[in-house]
Order: sequence, then structure tokens, then C-alpha cells
Amino acid sequence: VTPKGQPGNPKPRCFRLVEDDAILNRMGFNNVGAIQVAKNLQSARAFRNRGGILGVNIGKNKVTPNDLAIDDYMKCMDRLYMSGDYIAINISSPNTPNLRDLQAEEELNKLLAAIAAKRKELKAANKDHYVPIAVKLAPDLSDDGIKKALDVIVKNGMDGVICTNTTISREAILGHPLEKEPGGLSGRPLMERSTEVTRLASEHLRGTLPIIASGGVMSASDAVEKMEAGASIVQLYTGFIFEGPELVADCVQAIAQWRANHQTSCPVSEPSSPSPAP
Ligand SMILES: Cc1cc2nc3c(=O)[nH]c(=O)nc-3n(C[C@H](O)[C@H](O)[C@H](O)COP(=O)(O)O)c2cc1C
Repeated sequence: VTPKGQPGNPKPRCFRLVEDDAILNRMGFNNVGAIQVAKNLQSARAFRNRGGILGVNIGKNKVTPNDLAIDDYMKCMDRLYMSGDYIAINISSPNTPNLRDLQAEEELNKLLAAIAAKRKELKAANKDHYVPIAVKLAPDLSDDGIKKALDVIVKNGMDGVICTNTTISREAILGHPLEKEPGGLSGRPLMERSTEVTRLASEHLRGTLPIIASGGVMSASDAVEKMEAGASIVQLYTGFIFEGPELVADCVQAIAQWRANHQTSCPVSEPSSPSPAP
């Protein structure tokens, strides 16, 4: 969601790489804008009341230069604070020019300080209602870049990190006819790096923040692999496209089983970090 509605990139902008279990997309934040999204999400109340968890993913408009990006995130927060159960800060989409530069230490610090202050203000204005905020990172940052971003995320009191968004790397699909199409690659080719980032984040954070793992979950065993790498929550998108909703049930079941085994085999070494249900 961006403050103003925008059309996104011209079509075609989303491609299936069926033999690779992958999607290449350059949607470009096509959306109706924060005010209309807030209205639309009123109808998600019943889902949320029944225990469904709804995340609202916010970004900046394409026409907004990076030095004004903070204003866009503030507008989205003002308009959507009460619309979801958590807010995801998207600074990692490859499809909005220069967006990912906001992940650099100094830029990120400015942005997250403003977001933390805005949350404090909105919490006070909404009967002390606290909305958790997670920051979503790109898999294409260097390991050092990931660690620096994590330090800034912790320092500014964020509640979680999402590892990861889509990749601009084509290493895993070299020679594919769509290799040269611009956009973010998701699905199986992303699994390895996004899991590596999850593991790196887990080792660096040492339980201070929960990690939401996203990237290449195409099977229940992939979901368990994310948990083993240190995730508290697993998300999937491309797997849903290829495998359908049954994949979600399979993942939930496999993670529940993994947790049961894990807890009996090593009760003392369990981290004390928050561990929300899958
Ligand atoms: C068509 C499409 C649109 C996406 N739009 C967004 C978006 O608006 N914001 C965002 O943070 N991630 C977006 N993503 C990234 C996914 O949320 C997810 O992080 C990524 O695809 C990796 O997970 P997966 O391999 O399970 O798909 C999009 C992915 C796809 C395929």
C-alpha cells in the first residue's frame, strides 16, 4: 500500500517460470491508495475477530523521491494504523526505483526513528493500542549490510524482521528465456539465500526479535527448514500460487510436529524469545 493510489508498471509484469517453481514480478505497488485500502479492510474485521492475523505492507509512491520517503510511510501509518494486526515496512521491493537504498544504515535509522515516533503518537491517540511493526529486508544485501540493518531495527524498537523479499539475482535461473526481464524473483530459486539470511539474522539477533521467514517455501519441509534456521513465523506467496491453499495446512502440520519433537528433544536450549503460533 502506498499513500496515493498508483497503476504500477505496464503489463506484462508478472511471469510464471513453471519448470523452476518460480515467479518473476515487477508489479510496482499497483494499489488503490491508503485511504481506500483502509475502507476495504473494514470488511476484514470478521476475519480478524476470528483470530486471523492481517499484516499491512506499506511503501512509498513511485513519484516520491527518497528524501521525502518518510512522509509517505507516515501517511500510510496515519491512515492504516488500526486496519491490521501488524505493519510491515517495505524497503526491499526491487520494483520501485531506489526504494532499497532506504536499507542503508543512516537512511534506515532516520526512517525507523520517524516510524517509532509516529507509532507512539498513534498508540496514544488509539486508547493505547500497540501495533507491532516488522521490517522487510532484501536478500541481495551483503551479510554485513543485513547485520547493520538488523542493529538499526533493534535500536529503533521494531518488533520483528521479515527475511526476505524477492531477489534481483538471476544466478539460479541462468539461461532461462525470462532471465533478462527486470523484476524480483521468488519461489524455489530464492529458498537458499532467504534461508541463509534467516539463519544469519537468527545468529545475530540471538532471540531479541522474532524473524518472519519468507522466500521459496514450496513444501512443508521447506517450512520446517525455515524454523530450523531460526524463524518464528513462516510466510509463503509463490508456493501458494503453484501448490494452492493445501500447502498452508501441510506447513502448519509439519511445523507443529517439528515443534513437538524439538521441544521434547532439547527443552533446556529452547530460546526464550517470543515464539508465535505458525
Ligand atoms: C506478485 C507478487 C507481488 C508481491 N508484492 C509484494 C509487496 O507488495 N510487498 C512486499 O513486501 N512483498 C511483495 N512480494 C514478495 C512476497 O511477499 C514474498 O516476500 C516473496 O515473494 C518471497 O516469498 P515466496 O518465495 O514465498 O513468494 C510480492 C511477490 C509476488 C510474487
